[in-house]
Amino acid sequence: MSSYVTRRSQLETYFDRTAVEAWSRLTSDAPVSKIRATVRAGRDAMRTTLLDWLPADMRGLRLLDAGCGTGALAVEAARRGAHVTAIDVSPTLIGLARERLPEIAGPGSIEFHVGDMLDPWLGRFDHVVAMDSLIHYQAPDIVRALAELSLRTDGSIVFTVAPRTALLTLMHAAGKFFPKADRAPAIVPITEGGLRRRISREPALERFAVERTRRINSGFYLSNAIELTKSPSSNHHPHAEEPERSGGLEGGLQPVAQSFEPSFEAASQHLRMRGGNGSAGGRSA
Ligand SMILES: C[S@@+](CC[C@H](N)C(=O)[O-])C[C@H]1O[C@@H](n2cnc3c(N)ncnc32)[C@H](O)[C@@H]1O
Repeated sequence: MSSYVTRRSQLETYFDRTAVEAWSRLTSDAPVSKIRATVRAGRDAMRTTLLDWLPADMRGLRLLDAGCGTGALAVEAARRGAHVTAIDVSPTLIGLARERLPEIAGPGSIEFHVGDMLDPWLGRFDHVVAMDSLIHYQAPDIVRALAELSLRTDGSIVFTVAPRTALLTLMHAAGKFFPKADRAPAIVPITEGGLRRRISREPALERFAVERTRRINSGFYLSNAIELTKSPSSNHHPHAEEPERSGGLEGGLQPVAQSFEPSFEAASQHLRMRGGNGSAGGRSA
């Protein structure tokens, strides 16, 4: 079993059972603790950033919301007219997303699916967004996942990673703030330089370049947004071929060589030890 599949299965257990109540609350308007309010504010700022990087008018465009959770980003994209395919490995979160789905005025639509974000059966997309859904995977698995997604993406892939400094502090802080039952599979620290090098070495990502990055820093939430855009090609025909459903979920990731022992020391959100006041700040490269 590859490290990707092992981690995905841990995340399914965590988001579908262990933390479903906390996650449901965090992603609603219900009152939360001061710490979690900073996480909610950071996540709102991150969602706004990722949406800002997508076209303002998404009519006729296909978007994959990869690891959609309770579906907030998918709803905003559909309101812009996008045809959104929103997928999550947690059936309970997809159930919540369906319950919360508001009426979408205009031509946009959302299809919710339970499953793996890398399933080739989902088809081709103009844009892919993966907000905080790759942060628990190791760097080689993140890049392998981006490579898989890139095969079916005609425009851009926008995603988030946890900066290295956040995780180190998070692992230190986690035990102090959260009871054991509320802990998530560890968030994996990623340096931007290391990730850029891996992306530049991945043949499937040859036509993709890092367009911009932005750090969202809000109290106990710290995450980096990254946009990969595809360069145009003269003989490229968007949406030309729709792949067959295949057993390609695990198969697509088998080549990932590195594996690691999972650890559960980290907390359920991006945490770090600092007395932040919840403001969101940015950095672009
Ligand atoms: C931290 S939550 C973020 C959810 C949503 N993107 C948001 O920002 O509200 C991460 C989500 O990614 C999902 N996830 C992780 N790995 C996945 C995979 N391989 N395929 C589909 N969903 C996945 C988890 O089940 C979880 O709902």
